Amino acid sequence: MAISIKKVGVVGGGLMGAGIAQTVAQAGYDVIMAEVNQELLDRGMERVTGAWTMLTGKGKITEAQAAEYRGRFRGTLDLADFSDRDLVIEAIIENQDEKKKLFKTLDGILSEGALLVSNTSSLPVVEMASVTGRQTRVAGLHFFNPAPVMKLVEVVRTIVTSDETIETLKEFARSLGKTPIVAKDSAGFIVNFLLIPYMLAAIRMYEHGMASMEDIDTGMKLGCGYPMGPFELLDYVGLDTTLWAAEAIYKEFPDEAYAPPTLLRRMVQAGRYGKKNGKGFWNLDEG
Ligand code: CAA
Ligand code: NAD
Repeated sequence: MAISIKKVGVVGGGLMGAGIAQTVAQAGYDVIMAEVNQELLDRGMERVTGAWTMLTGKGKITEAQAAEYRGRFRGTLDLADFSDRDLVIEAIIENQDEKKKLFKTLDGILSEGALLVSNTSSLPVVEMASVTGRQTRVAGLHFFNPAPVMKLVEVVRTIVTSDETIETLKEFARSLGKTPIVAKDSAGFIVNFLLIPYMLAAIRMYEHGMASMEDIDTGMKLGCGYPMGPFELLDYVGLDTTLWAAEAIYKEFPDEAYAPPTLLRRMVQAGRYGKKNGKGFWNLDEG
């Protein structure tokens, strides 16, 4: 039997957290989004409400709908505000220690029956579950970027997640207009196990002087019909997130295909995180 979900919390208002909060509010749920400080919360809130302004401008939603979405969405800096949430979706940085710290805190705040899920790209979800007293009600709920547009959600089942939790999350994903697929809690799940080595291979091709970034991108767009080439996608996903996800998959599957290339490390060490901070592969030539 599925658990009833009405009130949702999202932790993290970055690329993914904001997109998830937007998607969930649009589907009729009451949503609170948390960030670490006022500046980042303001930026995350603007990402969400700015999308509704954009959609109104394009005539895709009405002013009344935008007002309705805004009415059931708010931000907070205080996780205690999550005490009445039925489901909390964690979308903070891809760092296991940070995620475990957060799961422990949230476990002490949420009601006994509430579900706690992670949007992690690659990390073992059971490790997050292990610090809580609700291991059967912890799972992965992996959205794709941009969350309001991409139709897939991976529901990640750990070795202890209950059937009820999985069924509830599949139903929740469908209520958002998404198609759920169920993946095991193995690093990279389904999509990133295939996508990350593809993006890393593109960086290696460039490192070895086999082709320019532009030609590699054009090749995959026009030759395979991909909407973005691998370098465009790397900049879009975030180079920091890609590096951390590759490291997590490589740790579990020590195969060369998952080893982060030196250039990716150097990009992150140089503070070039991609589109989110305005510095990535696309403007590397400009220094
Ligand atoms: N809310 C609702 N709709 C939105 C939106 C938002 N926040 N942002 C954009 N849209 C809508 C636009 O209104 C537009 O709709 P129409 O075509 O009906 O006008 C549509 O989405 C497409 O947007 P754009 O016209 O701006 O852009 P586009 O046609 O160039 O498509 C894209 C953009 C959807 C991102 C496309 O380039 C694409 O699919 N790229 C690949 C993305 C991808 O592979 N994502 C997965 C990354 S991996 C991942 O996420 C997993 C991980 O763990 C790292
Ligand atoms: P991001 O860097 O854009 O955003 C992360 C946000 O989390 C930041 O704004 C940060 O301030 C906030 N944060 C950090 N610690 C926090 C805490 N304790 N409480 C509240 N907020 C906190 O990263 P992102 O791209 O949104 O990625 C978030 C998660 O989603 C990661 O686990 C990532 O692997 C996963 N993911 C990313 C993508 C992608 O394409 N970028 C796709 C799917 C899943």
